[in-house]
Amino acid sequence: MASLVLGVLVSGRGSNLQSIIDAMVAGTLTARIAVVVSNKSDAFGLERAQQHGIKTVFVDPKPFKEQANPREAYDHAVLDVLKSHGVELVILAGYMRIVTAAFIQAYEGKMMNIHPSLLPSFPGLHAQKQALEWGAKVSGCTVHFVTEGMDEGPIILQAAVPVLEDDTDETLSARILEQEHRIYPEAIQLYGEGRLTIEGRCTQIEESVKQSNT
Ligand code: GAR
Repeated sequence: MASLVLGVLVSGRGSNLQSIIDAMVAGTLTARIAVVVSNKSDAFGLERAQQHGIKTVFVDPKPFKEQANPREAYDHAVLDVLKSHGVELVILAGYMRIVTAAFIQAYEGKMMNIHPSLLPSFPGLHAQKQALEWGAKVSGCTVHFVTEGMDEGPIILQAAVPVLEDDTDETLSARILEQEHRIYPEAIQLYGEGRLTIEGRCTQIEESVKQSNT
């Protein structure tokens, strides 16, 4: 089976990208990252990719600001990069830009995001801080397909963590991040095995067929 071709979009640290690379190296994720794209030239995620010999492209948003529809024009440029690298599944990994409808439609059902809360609770920015300020006792992370509503797409996997009395933004974020690194590669592997089906606003996960020699 040919391995799934990924395009990963990052804006910063890239620890989720790293977890995907690590899972590929460990053999728990059968995929190939064709390109890592960023809207930030100094995103550490670009460096991580380069350290593993993965192609990186910085798409500078500045030149697009002059255009009539800057966000659409920018996303078209990113799309061109992804298409020209044969990307089959787009992975948003700490990509801090809202993607436009045309981009989402081009990869409908073929674009995933990870969010640091148990969606639909605490969508948007600073999800961990939102959970703390709300007084949530449990939080976590969600991998979901990307649709036009922000952080609203069909949920693929979630992991929960406790919110502790003395948690700060940093301690809660670290506890959640550990789970992000576990479930994102897992969700991508499920997709690659053809086990995910979107039904309305839900994702069905097909049970794995156990191989037996007996
Ligand atoms: C992660 O916690 C991810 O869930 C979050 O940004 C962080 C990126 O970290 N994404 C969002 O908040 C998207 N709304 P990373 O760059 O180390 O992977």
